[in-house]
Amino acid sequence: MTNTIAVQMSGVVKRFPGVVANDGVEFELRRGEVHALLGENGAGKSTLSNILTGLYRPDEGTIELNGAPVSFSSPRDALNAGIGMVHQHFRLVETFSVAENVVLGNPDTAFLLDTAAINERVKELAARYDMAVDPEARIWQLSVGEQQRVEILKVLYRGAQVLILDEPTAVLTPIEADALFRTLRAMTAEGRTVIFISHKLDEVMAVSDRITVLRGGRTVGTVDTSTTNKRDLASMMVGRNVEFTRVQRKTPAQANDVVLHVENLGAHDDRGRDALHGITLTVGRGEIVGIAGVAGNGQRELAEVIAGMRHTTTGSVSVEGKILQSGKARAAIAGGVAHVPEDRLHTGLAAGHSVEDNLALKSYRSSLLSRFGLLRRQAMRDGATELVERYDVKTPSTQTAVRLLSGGNVQKVLLAREFSTGPKVLIAASPTRGLDVGAIESVRERLVEAADGGLGVLLISEDLDEIMSLADRIAVMYEGRIVAVIPADKADRETIGLLMGGSQLEATS
Ligand SMILES: Nc1ncnc2c1ncn2[C@@H]1O[C@H](COP(=O)(O)OP(=O)(O)OP(=O)(O)O)[C@@H](O)[C@H]1O
Ligand SMILES: [Mg+2]
Repeated sequence: MTNTIAVQMSGVVKRFPGVVANDGVEFELRRGEVHALLGENGAGKSTLSNILTGLYRPDEGTIELNGAPVSFSSPRDALNAGIGMVHQHFRLVETFSVAENVVLGNPDTAFLLDTAAINERVKELAARYDMAVDPEARIWQLSVGEQQRVEILKVLYRGAQVLILDEPTAVLTPIEADALFRTLRAMTAEGRTVIFISHKLDEVMAVSDRITVLRGGRTVGTVDTSTTNKRDLASMMVGRNVEFTRVQRKTPAQANDVVLHVENLGAHDDRGRDALHGITLTVGRGEIVGIAGVAGNGQRELAEVIAGMRHTTTGSVSVEGKILQSGKARAAIAGGVAHVPEDRLHTGLAAGHSVEDNLALKSYRSSLLSRFGLLRRQAMRDGATELVERYDVKTPSTQTAVRLLSGGNVQKVLLAREFSTGPKVLIAASPTRGLDVGAIESVRERLVEAADGGLGVLLISEDLDEIMSLADRIAVMYEGRIVAVIPADKADRETIGLLMGGSQLEATS
């Protein structure tokens, strides 16, 4: 069964102004497989998926579905033919129930007004694919992982035979990711086919049957997962050997020379509930303090309070001994706080604006950029060009709108800007999420370089490997509290994992 070809793409070309996003892509999808798509940021993975789901039309090339040529003019067209996309940015109606969202918009079931019957059908579908979600729950009550399950159910409900998931695990906790992989397996066991896009090589190795690697819009090759390894995949992606090594520190951290001091901090979450309970924490000059924890345990609120984007209910934040005004982002920036938020496109950047505008967004204080009106644009452009080069941002020009960049390149723009403001403290939430292996190495090098230069870094991440390989000290956050602070050289994965899950230190020994 797995040898029947479901989709064959040949010579597919897609051009955008200034860039050829797909440059003669060859891609063969066999029925019943999980097929991973790998490639550097900007390699053309999302473009390929968007072509296959009818969002873009290819400029050249052919697509065959079950042996017959097809051409889609809209996502609805593609879905009717059995190809569905699970979107990264969920399109759910918050006030509706899970079942209502799943059934919504499906003409075949518009007559099915019986709530009990709809709930039952959605419940069966969820159970069939091993998805834990309550059909009667309202969307706003769900975690991100549960909302993603609803998106998957929507596509399955409409009868998709081929499902495309573009970086689905970027928003999931490791436990949720494992649950997703079980669901993917249940789908392929029934003969459905999955295209899985991810930068995480461990995941790709664990979940896929075959892997196609793209580079610069072209297919490098397709391999059986059982015959390859992470190192080979990485070199296929970047076209050279990649070393997975720990970045070496040059200057030791000075934990006693405190740059960031958070004292007895309390704050509410978006719904007005207590999200932080008396958080006390310091970051020293040149120190990288990792915050380990499962998402949703107050990390985002902590980052936002420090960055002045959320009010405190108790306590204070100070940088180099000066207390920052609560809830004032400008005060935090002026005080030397840089912030790489989780939600890059919404809180981090102005997506409709150009790369150069975004890179200059925070430098309004800088006299070089604002003193001479006429020279300003040129200075901005020169500054932007330099940063684009230094951070290897793949963009047709510095005038291109940020929303047109690939996911990973958006991330690089944000990092470049935050580093370039010359901060004293950097709050970085999952700074390497969505980046390819090469870019991850370079961001880690930049972080370590900046710490060597005296920057205090608060690194918030669910990726324990990242925290273990970069942090000097590791603070574990659980239910809005810091439950332990451990020097990195005394930390082991298992203890930290248990603490992240809410175990007490005593109980873990
Ligand atoms: N709508 C668009 N308009 C202009 N350029 C685009 C558009 N969509 C994609 N591109 C460009 O096409 C190239 C490929 O982008 P794509 O999003 O397919 O990359 P990707 O492999 O998904 O990367 P990432 O891993 O960073 O998500 C990039 O250079 C991107 O800037
Ligand atoms: Mg992409």
